[in-house]
Amino acid sequence: MPHTQHSAPRAGIELHAISKTFGVTQVLHDISYTFAPGTVTGVLGENGAGKSTLFKILAGIYEPDRGARLVVGGDDVPLPLTPSSSADLGFAFVHQDLGLAGSLSVMENVFAGAMLTRFGLVDWNAQARKVRELLDDLGIDVDPRTAVEDLTQAEKAVVAIARAVYARGRQSSSLLVLDEPTANLTGAERDRLFEAMRAAAAKGTAIAFCTHRLEEVIAVTDSVMVLRDGRLVLEAPTASISGEQELAKHILGRDLESHFPDRVSHARLDAEPVLDVQHLSGAGVAQLSFDIRPGEVVGLTGLAGAGHDDVPDLLLGSIASETGTIRVGGTAVRSASPTAATDAGIAILPAERKRRSGIMTASIAENMTMVALEQFTRGGLIRAKRERERVLAEMERFDVRPMGDPDRELATLSGGNQQKVLIAKWASRSGVRVLVLHEPTQGVDVGAKRTILEHVSRMASEGVAILMVSSEHEELSHLCDRILVMRHGTLRREMRDAGARDITEQCYVAA
Ligand SMILES: Nc1ncnc2c1ncn2[C@@H]1O[C@H](COP(=O)(O)OP(=O)(O)OP(=O)(O)O)[C@@H](O)[C@H]1O
Ligand SMILES: [Mg+2]
Repeated sequence: MPHTQHSAPRAGIELHAISKTFGVTQVLHDISYTFAPGTVTGVLGENGAGKSTLFKILAGIYEPDRGARLVVGGDDVPLPLTPSSSADLGFAFVHQDLGLAGSLSVMENVFAGAMLTRFGLVDWNAQARKVRELLDDLGIDVDPRTAVEDLTQAEKAVVAIARAVYARGRQSSSLLVLDEPTANLTGAERDRLFEAMRAAAAKGTAIAFCTHRLEEVIAVTDSVMVLRDGRLVLEAPTASISGEQELAKHILGRDLESHFPDRVSHARLDAEPVLDVQHLSGAGVAQLSFDIRPGEVVGLTGLAGAGHDDVPDLLLGSIASETGTIRVGGTAVRSASPTAATDAGIAILPAERKRRSGIMTASIAENMTMVALEQFTRGGLIRAKRERERVLAEMERFDVRPMGDPDRELATLSGGNQQKVLIAKWASRSGVRVLVLHEPTQGVDVGAKRTILEHVSRMASEGVAILMVSSEHEELSHLCDRILVMRHGTLRREMRDAGARDITEQCYVAA
């Protein structure tokens, strides 16, 4: 059924005294804020600060504590919202995990629940045309009949936005909430997304944009709200903020001298390569050759679809390679399979960590020790005490919050804290000679980013060969001894030392 167009409410979306308690823990304290029509608000805060919880209250997923008020366009709205009353207000959401159905097509995802019908039948052609238009508006070119699971992360993000904006067939939303939509996107794709955001704002939509990439906040927002431990600690026009450093200070509540560890190279360039890849082909990669020496940190990057994103799976053997040899310490990895790769000493932190390596209903401890069980097992028994100590130490090292509760179910952690648990999981493995990190800092706050990069640097100092596949040019330039830039599946450019220090978004384009 076609729906009426929502006109954006003049007075904006006013939140008054929003609090939320889970069990005995209060995670939001008395938040009052107005999302103004036509403006982009950056919603900022450390992992676990309460951003997603606030959004879920607006989405009708969580019920706020008593005393909360919501005023939309000057009128009081009864609380709690339900998903359908939230949608009736014109609230649209792209949640942190995108929430797409992988096995369904792009078109089915975009039109979920609002199929275009003709004589009572779903009109697939009209549907496909409409979806193509929407995606075109947002700047991507994908066949609407493609299954979502076959898309790149960037394409999925855009599909999720198309679905949010056009939910129920409406032309615009009063409020569009984007909870970390840019994880995994490179410069040009991000710019396109920002254009889509600005276009929606120009129609009068209020936009709440949550990100941990502070340069994006400066680039695209009009104002910022910062949450710390569930409290609103700053509300300001972006123009009044001096830069990323100041934002980081408000977010963390302390100064962060630098977002990155000091640059130290541990590369032993006179030693034989630990990882030697020759003529690797498969998926989006053609004839890729490179090697990594002990302690060397090599970055691999490119625009979306350039092929770099397929390299981790080819190395692990979870995508079959067509040609090529992979050697670790001079010995060829016998077969292309995750077991063979792991036995050879290759450890991989996949980009889609939650789906691929997290078990949401298991505890933090169970998730962390799954790959390291052999270290805790003697005569078939898990040495419970030792495991617990190790897990607690790793939780502290990676600042997993809430602290000291390894039996907590992974699902009840904030998105970024789930990431930290899964990152700690590879950190607790022994016998690793090659470490492949795919978008290692995606979804974690500025403080945790630094912790993770320090850990990578420490592994390098122990002689591990590191391959960092990332779209974050800043983190690549701070950490890598060498950066490889791919385009159309092949290696186009290699930057060392001083060159690697200067990598910018331009380098992808120029490759
Ligand atoms: N269903 C739940 N049950 C219990 N606690 C929860 C639940 N969902 C969230 N929490 C807790 O609420 C707090 C806020 O989490 P929230 O997901 O809102 O953080 P966030 O700001 O979105 O963080 P991130 O940047 O990591 O996504 C966290 O301490 C989290 O553990
Ligand atoms: Mg969140």
